[in-house]
Amino acid sequence: MHAGSGAPTALATGAAPPPLAPLPPGCSVGANGHLRCAGIDVLDLVARYGTPLYVMNEEVVRANCRAYREAFRAYPGAAVVAYAAKALFNLALAAVFAQEGLHLDVVSAGELHTALAAGFPPARIHFHGNNKSPDELESALDVGVARIIVDNFHELELLDSAARRRGTRQAVLLRVAPGIEAHTHEYIRTGSQDSKFGFDLASGQAFEAARAAGAARGLRYMGLHAHVGSQILDTRVVGPLVEAMLDLGAAIRHDAGLALGELNLGGGAGIRYAGDDATLPPAVLATAMADAVVAGCAARDLPLPVLSVEPGRSIVGEAGIALYTVGSTKRVPGFLPWVAVDGGMGDNIRPALYQAAYTVAAAGRMGEGPAERVQVVGRYCESGDFLARDVDLPRLQAGDVLAFFSAGAYQYPMASNYNRVPRPCLLLVSAGRSDVIVERESLADLVARDRLPPHLRARDAVGAAD
Ligand code: LLP
Repeated sequence: MHAGSGAPTALATGAAPPPLAPLPPGCSVGANGHLRCAGIDVLDLVARYGTPLYVMNEEVVRANCRAYREAFRAYPGAAVVAYAAKALFNLALAAVFAQEGLHLDVVSAGELHTALAAGFPPARIHFHGNNKSPDELESALDVGVARIIVDNFHELELLDSAARRRGTRQAVLLRVAPGIEAHTHEYIRTGSQDSKFGFDLASGQAFEAARAAGAARGLRYMGLHAHVGSQILDTRVVGPLVEAMLDLGAAIRHDAGLALGELNLGGGAGIRYAGDDATLPPAVLATAMADAVVAGCAARDLPLPVLSVEPGRSIVGEAGIALYTVGSTKRVPGFLPWVAVDGGMGDNIRPALYQAAYTVAAAGRMGEGPAERVQVVGRYCESGDFLARDVDLPRLQAGDVLAFFSAGAYQYPMASNYNRVPRPCLLLVSAGRSDVIVERESLADLVARDRLPPHLRARDAVGAAD
């Protein structure tokens, strides 16, 4: 259970237990008090696949895709929903998104390769990034992606000449830094004027970029893009963002004669991490965006552009849970106990990086009220390796399984091999079945790409001091 920070090391006996945190979508509690996901007892998954274990609920991912597509039908023009692959991506998920009819936002040759390997249609792929390499741009042209979202003048020139060499014209959007602050953590804000992403609006660079794109024989200007931040929990930012983008689109149309064919407003819808978090449901976001674009276009006498969005976290975040096994608990009088689990910052850097808070539950003891407030820490050699601070849980023992809710986005993809710990297994569960979609790394995997130079091989390398 999540709790705010506070001092007591133990909950007062006899106090009414706080209400159970809401269960993630697609989860329930069995008669044995075990957490179930997609109809499966998660302790059975742990017994079969081990921990740390990431479990993605396929039906929830699909439902979120459908909710987005459905919600954007509120827009009277054409709308595109592209999944932001960076949130979590692999062959199986690529196949799910292809089946659900989503488009895809990729930011690297690796994400592009994964998409293509899964058979994802290039005509639905949008290529992003603030420093795409010449090779990445060539690959994007090779496969014929739908859009390249051009981030800066360097890329504009690189892409124009690469496309001209091929005698093609690549459809592009221009990423704009609109100078608008999203109300979220500073590390995941991207729209402000000093952001590293996009063409600056205020100084006129975005306008100049459009003029340059319009004049470039290798490029076809399709419109504008902005993404102002992530884990945004209300629609306050939508109105000012749309106004700024439509002002720019109208100026480009008026002064450079280039139509705003598409307006991409990025991703960023927030999800529930802790029990009391607000969320930003697709329907609320879509209505706010559609209303603002329709009104803004009418006011400027602009035809309705294609409206695109790029959700990542809100499609996969709440569909995932992370499971860990408790090992040691360190108890020092006067301090909260440190409950150590077999994962940590290597598979979830978010608490250390963004002070992210999670809902945590004892997966085998869901019916029990909390008994004490603890710090859940990882197994990595860093004091900053905590997973959840000040959480109220039953008194845990070694072998208990902890479930972290809303673990589907930006955990597995940001995982590392720090301390030479293998990355966890990723499962897809659906209606009582479970499939491994990313194998747990093995110890052999950890040395598979290491190379020993000849002078360090065999006897030369050992025993120099003997
Ligand atoms: N489009 C662009 C251009 C983006 O940069 C991002 C996220 C998205 C779409 C998807 O945003 P979402 O709907 O997932 O919020 N690692 C951080 C989040 C970084 C987001 C980066 N860009 C975290 O763990 O919170």
